[in-house]
Amino acid sequence: MKEQLAAIVTEVESAVPALEKRAAFEAFKATISGPNGKLTAAMKGMKDVPKEDKPAMGKLLNETKQQIEALYAATLERIEAAETAEKLGPPIDPTLPCPDIASGSLHPLTQTRRLMEAAFRKVGFTVAEGPELETEWFCFDALNTPEDHPARDAQDTLFLPEAAAVDNVTKHGSERYLMRSHTSTVQIRAMMKEEPPLRIISPGRVFRRDTTDATHSANFHQMEGLYVDKNVTVVDLKAILDYFVAEIFGKGSTVRLRPSFFPFTEPSFELDMKTPNLGKLSNQWIELGGCGMVDPNVFRHVGYDPEKWTGYAFGMGIERIAMIVHGIDDIRYFYQNDLRFLQQFA
Ligand code: DAH
Repeated sequence: MKEQLAAIVTEVESAVPALEKRAAFEAFKATISGPNGKLTAAMKGMKDVPKEDKPAMGKLLNETKQQIEALYAATLERIEAAETAEKLGPPIDPTLPCPDIASGSLHPLTQTRRLMEAAFRKVGFTVAEGPELETEWFCFDALNTPEDHPARDAQDTLFLPEAAAVDNVTKHGSERYLMRSHTSTVQIRAMMKEEPPLRIISPGRVFRRDTTDATHSANFHQMEGLYVDKNVTVVDLKAILDYFVAEIFGKGSTVRLRPSFFPFTEPSFELDMKTPNLGKLSNQWIELGGCGMVDPNVFRHVGYDPEKWTGYAFGMGIERIAMIVHGIDDIRYFYQNDLRFLQQFA
């Protein structure tokens, strides 16, 4: 029986290295440990072993079983590892950088807004905010815009049904709610909150009933500016704007103020800029926005004494400046989220 057991171990030892699949392993295992297997047969032979040899034989049988079980376990482990490796495919190096992740970047309008903010912050302006949903009073009345002004027409401004009222919009009287058509509303909100002197800019989204084309969009962005102090003059306005365009468009850039009309400024100007640093667009006047000296009626609406305080205000399109800086010829590119466009600003 001793030889029989030794022969079984030898057989298992020599057979298992060739077993590659689970089915082959199970089939082989059955020939040794199955009901008709060789080891099972050897165990059945125990009953014929003389009584005095039984303890030693029993011990040997147990050891043999353990030896064979260990061979089975190692073989099964090897087969399973191979199966897993096959499922995973070729080996990978987890320390390699991932090739597919592109790094994100700020939207060109955000970049331009931040550039504009940085220029004004350097000379003491702080950023003020106001809601996009406004009332007619903040958007028009307080800004000295008469009842019959064309901007108040429902053709140009997006008015809302009463149900759209929200908490942070205070109504004055019974005027209607609207989506603000310019950031000039924040002039009023800032002045009602604080006493002069005041120096703010306010970037944000504005809304118009415009049909979208290369230069128009129903919503776009503006940056408002307001400075209120004693003895502020047009010279101060021209100086801050000259400073600003030099910061954004480079040395040698200047501003031209063209007489115009806005209800909330007197006198009022169109704001044009000329720079030597813009390739094809160099050395020609380009319109950036509007500006002027704050109308005394606006001061009266917010409770400032117009005999004591003076101020200038300006408003510029952020898209317009981004388009000029980057040579973009269609405003719609900003809103389409096309990566081929956006990645150029990464
Ligand atoms: N709010 C004007 C607009 O949207 C722009 C503007 C003009 C703003 C003159 C001002 C200003 O602050 O003084 O067309």
